This record gives sequence, structure tokens and C-alpha cells, in this order.
Amino acid sequence: MLTKAGRLGGTALVEHVRQLKPQIKQLTLFPSELCNYRCSFCHIWGETGWALKEPQRAIREQLDIDVLKRFLGEVTENNKNLGVIITGGEPMLYKHFTELVTYLRSRKANVYLLTNGSLIKNRVEFIMENIVALNISIDGPEEFHDSIRGKGSFKTICENIDALIQEKRRRKKMFPFINITMVLSKYNYKSVKDFMRALRERFPSESVVLHDSRNPWMKRRDLSVNLAPLLFTTPERGQAYADQMKEHLNCDVSPAWQGFVEEDIGIDTLELKRDLEELWAEEGIDTSHFVDIHDYFTDIENVFERSKCVAPWHEMVIRRTGDVYPCVDLPDYKYGNIYENSFQDMWEGERATAFRDYLRDDNLLMCNRCTRMFADAESF
Ligand SMILES: C[S@@+](CC[C@H](N)C(=O)[O-])C[C@H]1O[C@@H](n2cnc3c(N)ncnc32)[C@H](O)[C@@H]1O
Ligand code: SF4
Repeated sequence: MLTKAGRLGGTALVEHVRQLKPQIKQLTLFPSELCNYRCSFCHIWGETGWALKEPQRAIREQLDIDVLKRFLGEVTENNKNLGVIITGGEPMLYKHFTELVTYLRSRKANVYLLTNGSLIKNRVEFIMENIVALNISIDGPEEFHDSIRGKGSFKTICENIDALIQEKRRRKKMFPFINITMVLSKYNYKSVKDFMRALRERFPSESVVLHDSRNPWMKRRDLSVNLAPLLFTTPERGQAYADQMKEHLNCDVSPAWQGFVEEDIGIDTLELKRDLEELWAEEGIDTSHFVDIHDYFTDIENVFERSKCVAPWHEMVIRRTGDVYPCVDLPDYKYGNIYENSFQDMWEGERATAFRDYLRDDNLLMCNRCTRMFADAESF
């Protein structure tokens, strides 16, 4: 669950950002944006997502592995223990997936996967040896999940998780951590109270624990479960963001923001709030630092004291085209391209500096419901 700002919130966070110096800590890679699923709510491949509006030949493009390795070599040269998140689309559809991960490990990077979990089975050993943590999407008990992600997908993903857990047991290994993420949307919010029960029925010999961000290591777990509210915007706010980018950063935005537009959130937010409170009480979780889910969905201005985003000082994002951006879900303000520019040129270049300068004093109108805005400055 997203949390309110911690020690660094409100004006303390504004002050923190004023002092920040760029220091790369995390890269997010979208080496391919292909996906074998069409999840209804997905901002990329879902009903309002941008991928179906793009020429399909373009979307089949994949990053050249040699160019990518050269670039990653530069980034890791002076930045040991870099965190690298590989996502997409479905990251395992990238045709050079194993070569990419192997290279990153040789550069001492810590590799994390955001995956739909459908393609794990043939890669269990490889994942065991190279991945720190997997975030696997399961969007509710079987019938809810399958109605969002496709018939039979719950069964396949659970079998794949089983295979991973068995291999971890066989090797007596702690890694990779397996996190399950359920995105709360109009398609599944009614199932939230049954989700933990459904997982425990499916994994009767495993410990399935609802993630408690204050006490993440309190309980031993085989599967950690996180509930993540939908990221969204309104049509007016999205358009105002596009205008803001043009006026202040001279940037013509992509259609990506449109993938987050919800005309009507379609959730009975008071019912969801009540169900979540019951669930958290059953699971014994202190919820005092969680965002109020009703406010989250009904008052988009409320950022829960998370007044600033620190991502541009610590993170860079590379898309399938080689384009490099500061923002994970908005391929709009481009720093450059890995086919043409070096890491140093982009990271310390004029465009990155201008973007950070703008974000030091202002927020973008799409930021209010972005995961990076909800990331703790301390933990970045
Ligand atoms: C875009 S997917 C890519 C990785 C992989 N295909 C998967 O489904 O996990 C990354 C995460 O974003 C989530 N997601 C997609 N659209 C979203 C939205 N509008 N709000 C919040 N999360 C979203 C997915 O459920 C998934 O957990
Ligand atoms: S599997 Fe992931 S990327 Fe693919 S459609 Fe679903 S949420 Fe989107």
C-alpha cells in the first residue's frame, strides 16, 4: 500500500530536494515493450493504453544488446551496486534477456524483475542465480485475476511461483524474494478481502504475508503481498500536464499520459476503505502511515505530504528505442538516446539539469499519482 510521507515530508522534503546532487542509484529498463497479456487496466496495453495506438511495427522494436551493454558498462563504471529494474511489457520477451541479466551481474548490479509471471518456468535456475527480487502481478483471486489478465493465467502463474519456491527450498536460498502485487482497480476491488485467503488456499504449505512497510522483516515469508492502488489521472489534468510540459519545458508529450486517464474511477471507495481496514485488522498490520484510500481516489490534489519527487536525482529510464527519460511511466522529456549519447553527457547534460531545476520548484501535474512520488527519499 502507498504510504504517507515519513520523516522527509512536506517542507522537510522541499529542503532536502533543494540540497540534492545528482547521484545515480537506479536504472529502469524497458528493453522491449512487447507483452503477451492485455490486462484491462494497463496503462500500456490496456483499454486506454498507448501501445495499441502505436504502429505495431514500431512496438516490435527491441533494444540492440551491444549498444545497451556498452551503455550499462559506462553507468556501472563508477556506480557499483546499481539497482536495475527490468520491466516492459513482459521483460522475459526481450530476445536478449539472459544476456542482459548476465552482463548486469558481471557488472555487480542488483537486478529486479517486474513480470507478469507467465514465462518463469523455463528460466527457474537462471532466475535463482541472478535475480534479487521478482515482483509478480496477480490481480485477485482466480476468477478476478483471469477476467483482467486472461483465462488460465492465474493457474500458470501460480505453477511458476511453485516451481521457484521449490527450487529455493531445494537450494536453501533466501533469494530471489518473491513479491506479489495486486493493482486495485474497478475490476477487482470487490475481491480484496478474499485475496489473501485465495493465495493461502493455493499455497497451503507456504507462508503468505501481507507486506507491512513499517515492519518488512517481522515475519518469515515465502510470498510477500502488496496492494497497489491504480495510478490514474483525469482528462483535464492530463491535458493540463501536456500544456505545462510545452510551456515550461518546451516538450511535446507522447500519448502515454492518456493511458492513465480514468473518466470515472468506478470504485465504491468507502466500501474499499472498509474492506481494506477489515483485512489489515485481520492481518495485524499498523496502518497509521498508509494513505487514506478514499482520499487517494477522490482527491487527486492530496499528495499525503509527499511534496516532491526525488527520482530525477537518482534514476534514469531507458525505453526500447534507446531514448532516455527521467520518468518511469511518461516517455516525454527526453535526455537523449543511448545509440548516440554517453551516460555522462545525458546525466550531467543541459536537459537533465533543466528538468531537475524545474522539479526543484514545481511539480508536474501527472506526478500526484505516480509510484516514484510515493517512494521514500531516504530509501532511494
Ligand atoms: C506495466 S507492468 C510491466 C511488468 C509486467 N508486464 C507485469 O504485468 O507485472 C508493471 C506493473 O504496472 C502495473 N500497472 C499497469 N497499469 C497500471 C496502472 N494504471 N496503475 C498502477 N499500476 C499499473 C502492472 O499491474 C504491473 O504490476
Ligand atoms: S502483463 Fe503487464 S505490461 Fe502486459 S498488459 Fe498486463 S500489466 Fe500491461
